[in-house]
Amino acid sequence: MGAAKRVSQTAVGDMFTTAAAHPNIALIKYWGKADAILNVPAVSSVSITLDALATETHVRFDGMLPADSLCLNGNTLAPTSNQARRITACLDALRALAGTGLRARVETHNDFPTAAGLASSASGFAALVVAASAALKLDLSPTTASKIARAASASAARSLFGGFAELPAGAAGEDVAAVGLASAEHWPLEVAVAICAEGPKAVGSTQGMIDSAATSPFYPAWVETAAADAAAARTAISERDFPTLASLSESSCLKMHAVMQTTRPALLYWNAATMAALQRIRHMQQDGIEVFFTMDAGPQVKAVCAPGAGGEVAAALASVPGVSRVLTSGLGGPARVIVSPWDGRCD
Ligand code: PMV
Repeated sequence: MGAAKRVSQTAVGDMFTTAAAHPNIALIKYWGKADAILNVPAVSSVSITLDALATETHVRFDGMLPADSLCLNGNTLAPTSNQARRITACLDALRALAGTGLRARVETHNDFPTAAGLASSASGFAALVVAASAALKLDLSPTTASKIARAASASAARSLFGGFAELPAGAAGEDVAAVGLASAEHWPLEVAVAICAEGPKAVGSTQGMIDSAATSPFYPAWVETAAADAAAARTAISERDFPTLASLSESSCLKMHAVMQTTRPALLYWNAATMAALQRIRHMQQDGIEVFFTMDAGPQVKAVCAPGAGGEVAAALASVPGVSRVLTSGLGGPARVIVSPWDGRCD
Protein backbone atom coordinates (compact mmCIF):
# COMPACT_ATOMS: atom_id res chain seq x y z
CA MET A 1 0.00 0.00 0.00
CA GLY A 2 1.03 3.64 -0.48
CA ALA A 3 3.34 5.56 1.83
CA ALA A 4 1.86 6.98 5.04
CA LYS A 5 0.96 10.66 4.90
CA ARG A 6 0.66 12.86 7.96
CA VAL A 7 -2.57 14.71 8.65
CA SER A 8 -2.57 17.68 10.97
CA GLN A 9 -4.60 16.87 14.10
CA THR A 10 -5.85 20.45 14.17
CA ALA A 11 -6.88 20.83 10.55
CA VAL A 12 -10.27 19.28 11.14
CA GLY A 13 -12.44 22.05 9.74
CA ASP A 14 -12.85 20.63 6.26
CA MET A 15 -12.24 16.95 6.88
CA PHE A 16 -15.53 15.74 5.52
CA THR A 17 -16.54 14.27 2.19
CA THR A 18 -19.53 12.55 0.64
CA ALA A 19 -19.10 9.71 -1.84
CA ALA A 20 -21.44 7.58 -3.89
CA ALA A 21 -20.94 4.02 -5.07
CA HIS A 22 -23.09 1.49 -6.87
CA PRO A 23 -23.61 -2.15 -6.03
CA ASN A 24 -22.24 -4.69 -8.44
CA ILE A 25 -23.52 -8.09 -9.43
CA ALA A 26 -21.07 -10.91 -10.05
CA LEU A 27 -21.58 -12.87 -13.25
CA ILE A 28 -18.71 -15.19 -12.34
CA LYS A 29 -19.25 -15.65 -8.63
CA TYR A 30 -17.05 -15.24 -5.58
CA TRP A 31 -17.73 -17.77 -2.82
CA GLY A 32 -14.86 -18.91 -0.59
CA LYS A 33 -11.78 -17.38 1.00
CA ALA A 34 -8.11 -18.26 0.57
CA ASP A 35 -7.35 -16.13 3.65
CA ALA A 36 -10.20 -15.41 6.06
CA ILE A 37 -8.22 -12.81 8.05
CA LEU A 38 -7.09 -10.70 5.08
CA ASN A 39 -10.30 -11.55 3.21
CA VAL A 40 -8.59 -12.90 0.08
CA PRO A 41 -10.90 -14.72 -2.34
CA ALA A 42 -10.21 -18.34 -3.28
CA VAL A 43 -11.83 -17.84 -6.72
CA SER A 44 -11.73 -15.07 -9.32
CA SER A 45 -14.98 -13.17 -9.87
CA VAL A 46 -16.23 -10.97 -12.72
CA SER A 47 -18.94 -8.36 -12.13
CA ILE A 48 -21.08 -5.60 -13.60
CA THR A 49 -21.68 -2.35 -11.70
CA LEU A 50 -25.27 -1.05 -11.68
CA ASP A 51 -26.19 2.63 -12.12
CA ALA A 52 -29.74 2.76 -10.74
CA LEU A 53 -28.96 1.68 -7.16
CA ALA A 54 -26.60 3.63 -4.95
CA THR A 55 -25.10 4.08 -1.53
CA GLU A 56 -24.23 7.61 -0.40
CA THR A 57 -21.82 7.91 2.50
CA HIS A 58 -20.79 11.02 4.37
CA VAL A 59 -17.64 10.86 6.49
CA ARG A 60 -16.47 13.59 8.86
CA PHE A 61 -13.25 13.27 10.85
CA ASP A 62 -13.58 15.22 14.07
CA GLY A 63 -11.03 15.80 16.84
CA MET A 64 -13.87 16.03 19.40
CA LEU A 65 -15.13 12.48 18.82
CA PRO A 66 -13.95 9.91 21.38
CA ALA A 67 -14.89 7.01 19.08
CA ASP A 68 -16.20 6.39 15.58
CA SER A 69 -19.93 7.05 15.40
CA LEU A 70 -21.89 5.22 12.74
CA CYS A 71 -25.35 5.55 11.31
CA LEU A 72 -26.80 3.26 8.61
CA ASN A 73 -30.11 4.22 6.94
CA GLY A 74 -31.04 6.45 9.87
CA ASN A 75 -30.21 3.90 12.58
CA THR A 76 -27.23 4.33 14.88
CA LEU A 77 -25.07 1.21 14.91
CA ALA A 78 -24.00 -0.19 18.28
CA PRO A 79 -20.18 0.06 18.45
CA THR A 80 -20.03 -3.65 19.29
CA SER A 81 -22.09 -4.69 16.26
CA ASN A 82 -20.42 -6.67 13.50
CA GLN A 83 -21.09 -3.88 10.96
CA ALA A 84 -19.62 -1.19 13.21
CA ARG A 85 -16.50 -3.26 13.81
CA ARG A 86 -15.98 -3.79 10.09
CA ILE A 87 -16.43 -0.07 9.39
CA THR A 88 -13.99 0.91 12.14
CA ALA A 89 -11.42 -1.65 10.88
CA CYS A 90 -11.69 -0.15 7.39
CA LEU A 91 -11.29 3.40 8.79
CA ASP A 92 -8.28 2.18 10.83
CA ALA A 93 -6.52 1.06 7.63
CA LEU A 94 -7.04 4.54 6.14
CA ARG A 95 -6.05 6.31 9.39
CA ALA A 96 -2.82 4.28 9.39
CA LEU A 97 -2.02 5.50 5.86
CA ALA A 98 -2.85 9.09 6.84
CA GLY A 99 -0.95 8.92 10.13
CA THR A 100 -3.89 10.14 12.18
CA GLY A 101 -5.89 8.86 15.09
CA LEU A 102 -8.91 11.11 14.43
CA ARG A 103 -12.27 9.39 14.90
CA ALA A 104 -15.05 9.76 12.36
CA ARG A 105 -18.77 10.26 12.10
CA VAL A 106 -20.06 8.06 9.25
CA GLU A 107 -23.58 8.43 7.89
CA THR A 108 -24.59 6.13 5.09
CA HIS A 109 -27.77 5.59 3.15
CA ASN A 110 -28.81 2.93 0.62
CA ASP A 111 -31.62 3.64 -1.82
CA PHE A 112 -32.34 -0.13 -2.06
CA PRO A 113 -32.93 -3.00 0.45
CA THR A 114 -29.93 -3.54 2.76
CA ALA A 115 -28.41 -7.02 3.29
CA ALA A 116 -30.90 -8.79 1.05
CA GLY A 117 -28.58 -10.18 -1.60
CA LEU A 118 -28.33 -6.83 -3.39
CA ALA A 119 -24.67 -6.24 -2.55
CA SER A 120 -25.21 -3.39 -0.10
CA SER A 121 -21.87 -4.20 1.55
CA ALA A 122 -20.17 -3.82 -1.85
CA SER A 123 -21.45 -0.30 -2.53
CA GLY A 124 -21.26 0.58 1.17
CA PHE A 125 -17.58 -0.17 1.65
CA ALA A 126 -16.64 1.26 -1.75
CA ALA A 127 -18.36 4.54 -0.82
CA LEU A 128 -16.76 4.48 2.64
CA VAL A 129 -13.23 4.06 1.26
CA VAL A 130 -13.68 6.84 -1.31
CA ALA A 131 -15.30 9.27 1.16
CA ALA A 132 -12.92 8.61 4.06
CA SER A 133 -9.76 8.64 1.95
CA ALA A 134 -10.82 11.94 0.35
CA ALA A 135 -11.68 13.44 3.76
CA LEU A 136 -8.19 12.44 4.95
CA LYS A 137 -6.67 13.98 1.76
CA LEU A 138 -5.21 10.61 0.80
CA ASP A 139 -4.69 10.38 -2.93
CA LEU A 140 -5.14 6.62 -3.22
CA SER A 141 -4.62 4.73 -6.46
CA PRO A 142 -7.64 2.63 -7.53
CA THR A 143 -5.54 -0.45 -6.69
CA THR A 144 -4.85 0.65 -3.12
CA ALA A 145 -8.45 1.75 -2.61
CA SER A 146 -9.64 -1.59 -3.96
CA LYS A 147 -7.34 -3.55 -1.60
CA ILE A 148 -8.64 -1.64 1.43
CA ALA A 149 -12.25 -2.17 0.31
CA ARG A 150 -11.56 -5.89 -0.31
CA ALA A 151 -10.31 -6.37 3.24
CA ALA A 152 -13.73 -5.16 4.44
CA SER A 153 -15.89 -6.93 1.86
CA ALA A 154 -14.40 -8.67 -1.19
CA SER A 155 -17.24 -7.66 -3.48
CA ALA A 156 -16.62 -4.00 -2.50
CA ALA A 157 -13.26 -4.18 -4.25
CA ARG A 158 -15.20 -4.52 -7.53
CA SER A 159 -17.57 -1.58 -6.83
CA LEU A 160 -14.65 0.86 -7.00
CA PHE A 161 -14.85 0.31 -10.78
CA GLY A 162 -17.65 1.04 -13.21
CA GLY A 163 -18.81 -1.20 -16.05
CA PHE A 164 -17.15 -4.62 -15.88
CA ALA A 165 -14.60 -5.54 -13.19
CA GLU A 166 -12.65 -8.59 -12.08
CA LEU A 167 -11.36 -9.48 -8.63
CA PRO A 168 -8.70 -12.18 -9.07
CA ALA A 169 -8.27 -15.10 -6.71
CA GLY A 170 -5.33 -14.84 -4.35
CA ALA A 171 -3.28 -17.06 -2.10
CA ALA A 172 -3.13 -16.77 1.70
CA GLY A 173 -1.35 -13.52 2.59
CA GLU A 174 -1.70 -12.05 -0.92
CA ASP A 175 -3.18 -8.53 -1.03
CA VAL A 176 -5.21 -8.69 -4.26
CA ALA A 177 -7.13 -5.79 -5.85
CA ALA A 178 -9.85 -5.67 -8.49
CA VAL A 179 -9.21 -4.35 -11.99
CA GLY A 180 -11.56 -2.66 -14.44
CA LEU A 181 -12.20 -4.83 -17.53
CA ALA A 182 -14.38 -2.52 -19.65
CA SER A 183 -16.51 0.58 -19.25
CA ALA A 184 -20.31 0.61 -19.17
CA GLU A 185 -20.27 2.16 -22.67
CA HIS A 186 -18.35 -0.82 -24.07
CA TRP A 187 -21.48 -3.01 -23.73
CA PRO A 188 -24.51 -1.31 -22.14
CA LEU A 189 -26.22 -4.40 -20.74
CA GLU A 190 -29.45 -3.88 -18.80
CA VAL A 191 -30.50 -5.54 -15.55
CA ALA A 192 -33.90 -6.29 -14.04
CA VAL A 193 -33.86 -7.37 -10.38
CA ALA A 194 -36.92 -9.34 -9.26
CA ILE A 195 -37.41 -8.75 -5.52
CA CYS A 196 -38.61 -12.13 -4.24
CA ALA A 197 -38.45 -11.22 -0.51
CA GLU A 198 -37.60 -8.04 1.40
CA GLY A 199 -35.57 -8.06 4.62
CA PRO A 200 -32.11 -9.21 5.69
CA LYS A 201 -30.73 -12.59 4.70
CA ALA A 202 -30.64 -15.47 7.20
CA VAL A 203 -26.95 -16.36 6.95
CA GLY A 204 -24.28 -13.80 6.08
CA SER A 205 -21.74 -14.53 3.35
CA THR A 206 -18.67 -14.72 5.60
CA GLN A 207 -20.04 -17.51 7.81
CA GLY A 208 -21.61 -19.20 4.79
CA MET A 209 -18.27 -19.32 2.93
CA ILE A 210 -16.46 -20.78 5.93
CA ASP A 211 -19.14 -23.45 6.32
CA SER A 212 -19.09 -24.25 2.57
CA ALA A 213 -15.30 -24.73 2.49
CA ALA A 214 -15.48 -26.98 5.54
CA THR A 215 -18.46 -29.13 4.61
CA SER A 216 -19.57 -29.06 0.95
CA PRO A 217 -18.24 -32.01 -1.05
CA PHE A 218 -18.59 -29.81 -4.16
CA TYR A 219 -16.34 -27.00 -2.85
CA PRO A 220 -13.03 -28.36 -4.32
CA ALA A 221 -14.60 -28.69 -7.79
CA TRP A 222 -16.02 -25.17 -7.47
CA VAL A 223 -12.58 -23.71 -6.74
CA GLU A 224 -10.89 -25.80 -9.48
CA THR A 225 -13.22 -24.65 -12.26
CA ALA A 226 -13.47 -20.94 -11.37
CA ALA A 227 -10.33 -19.65 -13.13
CA ALA A 228 -11.42 -21.05 -16.49
CA ASP A 229 -14.88 -19.49 -16.06
CA ALA A 230 -13.36 -16.07 -15.33
CA ALA A 231 -10.99 -16.27 -18.30
CA ALA A 232 -13.81 -17.26 -20.67
CA ALA A 233 -16.00 -14.45 -19.29
CA ARG A 234 -13.25 -11.89 -19.94
CA THR A 235 -13.16 -12.97 -23.58
CA ALA A 236 -16.97 -12.98 -23.90
CA ILE A 237 -17.10 -9.43 -22.49
CA SER A 238 -14.38 -8.16 -24.78
CA GLU A 239 -16.17 -9.73 -27.80
CA ARG A 240 -19.68 -8.75 -26.58
CA ASP A 241 -20.65 -12.42 -26.96
CA PHE A 242 -24.01 -12.59 -25.14
CA PRO A 243 -24.78 -16.34 -25.52
CA THR A 244 -21.35 -17.33 -24.16
CA LEU A 245 -21.54 -14.89 -21.24
CA ALA A 246 -25.09 -16.13 -20.50
CA SER A 247 -24.04 -19.76 -20.40
CA LEU A 248 -20.95 -19.07 -18.24
CA SER A 249 -22.86 -16.84 -15.82
CA GLU A 250 -25.79 -19.18 -15.26
CA SER A 251 -23.36 -22.06 -14.78
CA SER A 252 -21.25 -20.11 -12.25
CA CYS A 253 -24.38 -19.09 -10.33
CA LEU A 254 -25.78 -22.61 -10.24
CA LYS A 255 -22.42 -24.11 -9.23
CA MET A 256 -22.22 -21.61 -6.35
CA HIS A 257 -25.78 -22.42 -5.23
CA ALA A 258 -25.01 -26.16 -5.50
CA VAL A 259 -22.10 -25.56 -3.10
CA MET A 260 -24.38 -23.50 -0.83
CA GLN A 261 -27.13 -26.12 -0.84
CA THR A 262 -24.70 -28.94 -0.04
CA THR A 263 -23.14 -26.98 2.83
CA ARG A 264 -24.02 -28.19 6.32
CA PRO A 265 -26.10 -26.57 7.69
CA ALA A 266 -27.53 -25.99 4.20
CA LEU A 267 -27.66 -22.46 2.79
CA LEU A 268 -31.07 -22.33 1.13
CA TYR A 269 -31.55 -18.81 -0.19
CA TRP A 270 -34.30 -19.54 -2.76
CA ASN A 271 -38.03 -19.25 -2.23
CA ALA A 272 -41.04 -20.11 -4.41
CA ALA A 273 -40.93 -16.73 -6.19
CA THR A 274 -37.24 -17.28 -6.98
CA MET A 275 -38.03 -20.53 -8.77
CA ALA A 276 -40.97 -19.02 -10.63
CA ALA A 277 -38.80 -16.11 -11.81
CA LEU A 278 -36.10 -18.51 -13.06
CA GLN A 279 -38.73 -20.47 -15.00
CA ARG A 280 -40.02 -17.24 -16.55
CA ILE A 281 -36.50 -16.38 -17.69
CA ARG A 282 -36.16 -19.86 -19.26
CA HIS A 283 -39.39 -19.27 -21.19
CA MET A 284 -38.17 -15.87 -22.39
CA GLN A 285 -34.94 -17.50 -23.58
CA GLN A 286 -36.99 -20.08 -25.51
CA ASP A 287 -38.84 -17.16 -27.13
CA GLY A 288 -35.50 -15.75 -28.33
CA ILE A 289 -35.12 -12.92 -25.79
CA GLU A 290 -31.49 -12.28 -24.88
CA VAL A 291 -31.57 -12.62 -21.09
CA PHE A 292 -29.87 -14.74 -18.45
CA PHE A 293 -30.15 -15.03 -14.67
CA THR A 294 -27.84 -14.79 -11.72
CA MET A 295 -28.47 -14.82 -7.94
CA ASP A 296 -26.44 -14.12 -4.83
CA ALA A 297 -26.80 -14.96 -1.14
CA GLY A 298 -30.49 -14.13 -1.11
CA PRO A 299 -33.72 -14.90 -2.97
CA GLN A 300 -33.60 -12.02 -5.50
CA VAL A 301 -33.29 -12.98 -9.17
CA LYS A 302 -31.12 -10.72 -11.29
CA ALA A 303 -31.94 -10.88 -15.00
CA VAL A 304 -29.12 -9.61 -17.19
CA CYS A 305 -30.39 -8.48 -20.58
CA ALA A 306 -28.86 -7.52 -23.91
CA PRO A 307 -29.04 -3.76 -24.64
CA GLY A 308 -32.69 -2.83 -25.30
CA ALA A 309 -34.23 -5.99 -23.79
CA GLY A 310 -34.52 -4.80 -20.17
CA GLY A 311 -38.03 -3.26 -20.35
CA GLU A 312 -39.69 -6.37 -21.74
CA VAL A 313 -37.91 -8.64 -19.25
CA ALA A 314 -38.80 -6.39 -16.29
CA ALA A 315 -42.49 -6.37 -17.30
CA ALA A 316 -42.52 -10.16 -17.54
CA LEU A 317 -40.84 -10.60 -14.14
CA ALA A 318 -43.25 -8.14 -12.49
CA SER A 319 -46.14 -10.51 -13.27
CA VAL A 320 -44.46 -13.55 -11.64
CA PRO A 321 -46.38 -14.67 -8.51
CA GLY A 322 -44.50 -13.67 -5.34
CA VAL A 323 -42.32 -11.02 -7.02
CA SER A 324 -43.10 -7.86 -5.03
CA ARG A 325 -41.38 -5.41 -7.37
CA VAL A 326 -38.77 -5.21 -10.10
CA LEU A 327 -35.85 -2.79 -10.10
CA THR A 328 -34.27 -1.92 -13.44
CA SER A 329 -30.81 -0.62 -14.09
CA GLY A 330 -28.18 0.04 -16.67
CA LEU A 331 -24.48 -0.28 -16.02
CA GLY A 332 -22.90 2.41 -13.88
CA GLY A 333 -19.66 4.22 -13.30
CA PRO A 334 -17.05 3.97 -10.58
CA ALA A 335 -17.31 5.00 -6.92
CA ARG A 336 -16.68 8.74 -6.64
CA VAL A 337 -16.71 11.82 -4.47
CA ILE A 338 -19.92 13.81 -4.91
CA VAL A 339 -20.83 17.36 -4.00
CA SER A 340 -23.85 16.94 -1.77
CA PRO A 341 -25.44 19.23 0.79
CA TRP A 342 -25.65 16.40 3.33
CA ASP A 343 -28.99 16.74 5.06
CA GLY A 344 -28.03 15.19 8.37
CA ARG A 345 -30.75 12.57 8.08
CA CYS A 346 -29.15 10.55 10.90
CA ASP A 347 -29.31 13.31 13.50
O1 PMV B 1 -18.19 -9.72 -0.49
P1 PMV B 1 -19.28 -10.45 0.22
O2 PMV B 1 -18.84 -11.00 1.51
O3 PMV B 1 -20.53 -9.63 0.32
O4 PMV B 1 -19.65 -11.75 -0.69
C1 PMV B 1 -20.39 -11.70 -1.86
C2 PMV B 1 -20.74 -13.06 -2.33
C3 PMV B 1 -21.77 -13.16 -3.46
O5 PMV B 1 -22.57 -12.01 -3.55
C4 PMV B 1 -22.69 -14.35 -3.16
C5 PMV B 1 -21.11 -13.43 -4.80
C6 PMV B 1 -20.35 -12.27 -5.40
O6 PMV B 1 -19.34 -12.53 -6.07
O7 PMV B 1 -20.76 -11.11 -5.23
